[in-house]
Amino acid sequence: MTELKNDRFLRALQRQPVDQTPIWMMRQAGRYLPEYRATRQQAGSFLDLCKNAELACEVTMQPLRRYPMDAAILFSDILTVPDALGLGLYFEEGEGPRFHKTVRSEADLAGLNSIKADDDLGYVMNAVRTIRTELNGLVPLIGFTGSPWTLATYMVEGGSSKDFAQVKAMAYDKPELMHNLLSLLADAVADYLAAQIRAGAQAVQIFDTWGGSLSAAAYQEFSLKYMQQIIARLQADPATRAVPVIVFTKGGGQWLNAIADCGAQGVGIDWTTEIGAARAQIGNRVALQGNMDPSMLYASPARIREEVASILAGYGHGSGHVFNLGHGITPGVNPDHVTAFVDAVREFSPQYHQGV
Ligand code: CP3
Repeated sequence: MTELKNDRFLRALQRQPVDQTPIWMMRQAGRYLPEYRATRQQAGSFLDLCKNAELACEVTMQPLRRYPMDAAILFSDILTVPDALGLGLYFEEGEGPRFHKTVRSEADLAGLNSIKADDDLGYVMNAVRTIRTELNGLVPLIGFTGSPWTLATYMVEGGSSKDFAQVKAMAYDKPELMHNLLSLLADAVADYLAAQIRAGAQAVQIFDTWGGSLSAAAYQEFSLKYMQQIIARLQADPATRAVPVIVFTKGGGQWLNAIADCGAQGVGIDWTTEIGAARAQIGNRVALQGNMDPSMLYASPARIREEVASILAGYGHGSGHVFNLGHGITPGVNPDHVTAFVDAVREFSPQYHQGV
């Protein structure tokens, strides 16, 4: 395999010295880019785009052509796993993801396909291999998955949800059924991440988008525990153990101590947590990733620059910080504001890495 020309992102995740703070953006390939919208139209639909390795590679590369990002992220979706399990994923314009089937009983659970990622999600592995070839060592490639809990919310609700009524009722009334579903998902996700790593992913992120909707106790029981299992599985396998894992629980700021013990090298934080406080709490154990409010990208370039400066100062001197947004970039953002964002990290961050 080609040697990496830029390993800042991987070094920061290991808290090794870097010349400047690495940056990438959650959802960096997406609808805010006109070239993404054009390729998506060419593909026909979002799912067709995910399933076409050449086009998935093209949209992965698009943000890197505009911005000097320090990492690429596989273009795919977290819902490919429930789709392969047999739920039938589709997207209703303006309504977000939907499934033809839901999982609300032991019978529904028993009816799921048993899957092997290399076969049933082979299109994702093809995309990983195609992107690695195209990157040719420019920057590392991040693979990803949803957390078991986050995937379960979509599988039980049948799509996006505001109040998580069905999935929470199931967790609280039928914990055994919920744990059976989460165990099945933890196995599927561990296999999925291992397959992505064998195909060429150089770091992986677990998106626990809805872990923060749980109470503290329920978060440990239904979300964190399963992410911990997945990481333990990756670390037990010589083929996957060297690849760093980032856990991102949106809304997890109050549970940083517990999250820092889950085995991940990196912990993603959203913008409701102060990054300096997070570092003081867990920065001696893990790297931190984040955490500008994505809506700050709607403000002026001058205001964006101020915010970047303030987050860098909040983290302070030394390595262990991967700059990112606190959640994914939204479709309405002006791509020029992203230029201001990335340039500000480039301009202001080297001073935090001199003489340390
Ligand atoms: O970060 C990247 O650039 C990689 C690509 C990526 C996508 N989805 C592409 C996508 C990643 C990492 C995801 C993860 C994902 N998907 C999550 C977790 C991350 C998070 O935001 O918390 C979740 C919850 C999903 C499920 C999902 N997929 C939703 C809620 C939606 C949005 C529906 C909508 O219309 O707003 C999607 C679709 C999706 N996934 C799009 C993209 C670029 C937009 C689809 C389009 O082109 O219309």
